[in-house]
Amino acid sequence: MQLMAGVYFYSSPGGLDFSGELCSNTIVLQGNKLVLIDPGTRLRLPELLDRMVADGLDPADIEIVLLTHSHPDHLEAAPDLADKFGSRLFLSRIERDFLAESADVFFSHHAYPQPRIKFEVCDEGSLIVSALELKLLLTPGHSPGGLSIYFPQSKLLMTGDLFFPGAIGAINIFGGNPLDMYKSVARLRDMGGVEKVLCGHGPAIIDRDMVIQNYRALFAEIAAKKAAGII
Ligand SMILES: [Fe+2]
Repeated sequence: MQLMAGVYFYSSPGGLDFSGELCSNTIVLQGNKLVLIDPGTRLRLPELLDRMVADGLDPADIEIVLLTHSHPDHLEAAPDLADKFGSRLFLSRIERDFLAESADVFFSHHAYPQPRIKFEVCDEGSLIVSALELKLLLTPGHSPGGLSIYFPQSKLLMTGDLFFPGAIGAINIFGGNPLDMYKSVARLRDMGGVEKVLCGHGPAIIDRDMVIQNYRALFAEIAAKKAAGII
């Protein structure tokens, strides 16, 4: 669905229920071509492409695939987009290295990207793609090279699995780090100006009040985890 001008949000059917088969949300930004963030799983890819076409988007225009992190429920379908449409695939430098290290842990039931698929790397800072300006922030905590992506034109922040509506992302997994999680969430909270947040799973956070309320909920959870000695 179109969330606002030039921003399309494809929510995963599972929402915040992590008990079943996981697939991430996908976000598409429209510039002179398309920038797609987190394509999800191969199983769900045909449905995603159908939903894009129904919205009037041409998947052949996917110029850039930007991954918030390397977990298969976000990344697995990325090589298919490179094969089908010649899309360029980007991970943060830290996350690309982590992918090689974590493959056995996370990809046992998923298709591991073939060595022939080349992931390009991006670092913290500005990135201009498809005539759109994005600001990339390294926000480890859920994954060592996790990226949050800010799209200033729409005051939209995309956080991957760093946090969701009402909850921080998983930290008790390989590559998770409680202290990094705390610092990354605090950094994003202090950014200011963000009016919408799209997370890797769960519904959209669509106004400033909701953004503020959500950080309150996250810090209540962090405080409880600190009290319990987890962070
Ligand atoms: Fe994840």
